Amino acid sequence: MTAQLIDGNALSRQLRADVAQRTAVLKAKGITPGLAVIIVGLDPASHVYVGKKVEACAQAGLHSVLEQYPATLAEAELLARVHALNIDPAIHGILVQLPLPAHIDAHKVIEAIAPSKDVDGFHIASAGALMTGTPGFWSCTPYGCIKLLQSTGINLKGKHAVVIGRSNNVGKPMALMLLQKNATVTVCHSATANLKAHTLQADVIVAAVGRRNTLTADMVKPGAVVIDVGMNRNDAGKLCGDVDFAGVKEVAGWITPVPGGVGPMTVTMLLVNTVEAAECVALESTRVAAK
Ligand code: GUN
Repeated sequence: MTAQLIDGNALSRQLRADVAQRTAVLKAKGITPGLAVIIVGLDPASHVYVGKKVEACAQAGLHSVLEQYPATLAEAELLARVHALNIDPAIHGILVQLPLPAHIDAHKVIEAIAPSKDVDGFHIASAGALMTGTPGFWSCTPYGCIKLLQSTGINLKGKHAVVIGRSNNVGKPMALMLLQKNATVTVCHSATANLKAHTLQADVIVAAVGRRNTLTADMVKPGAVVIDVGMNRNDAGKLCGDVDFAGVKEVAGWITPVPGGVGPMTVTMLLVNTVEAAECVALESTRVAAK
């Protein structure tokens, strides 16, 4: 193995310790950061993810509320819950777990969340803020990838980054965040003519496709940094990413494992965003008190 491992568990521990410390400071001022998590239906994977989010809140001292609804919940009822949470002072962040049942318009629900509580960074206001380089919540998975990249000590300025995948939740915001960090960015996707020709030029590769073995050793420039966002299962049922880890680790300079890379960072950045949302409220109440 030539590549150095980028350890998402270790980085998460560090960042979560910082969140816990910031939470303690807020609590001393009478504000407990609060996250509301809404889940609709019984999708087992979604319940596992949501469980991790709620558990992480408790470990860092945040308040969390888990609202579970049957798959038959009416869209109007879900919107009413979001509206109630928008004006609940104990709640600083709202997360509606996706996917939602087909009869509910997920876009409408996300747009109902107050941008000041959009700790998932999925609202159009958050996406627009990212695009224009103005303050707003960055969506958790690509934000976690930026933190993993920064943990290597490599400056992204002037680097050529290739993002594979163009989803609204990962690929597109990832490209914008890398641009914000002054990288030169190429976005590849399912219609890209010659993926390998692009990835071989890359100093940084982020694979976010959802298909295993999308990136193999022959597609990687020696020394490149490889971030694997994929969460797939191999034939033996074992968790694996989009990157052929065994092959690519012999060529890359740095690589994230699956599991233990990007996965824990998504939950960590949710905590970071939630504590930041609470800090904004604390700042606002200080301003009001000073009047
Ligand atoms: N479903 C899978 N990942 C996520 C996520 O990060 N946020 C939400 N809200 N739903 C998801």
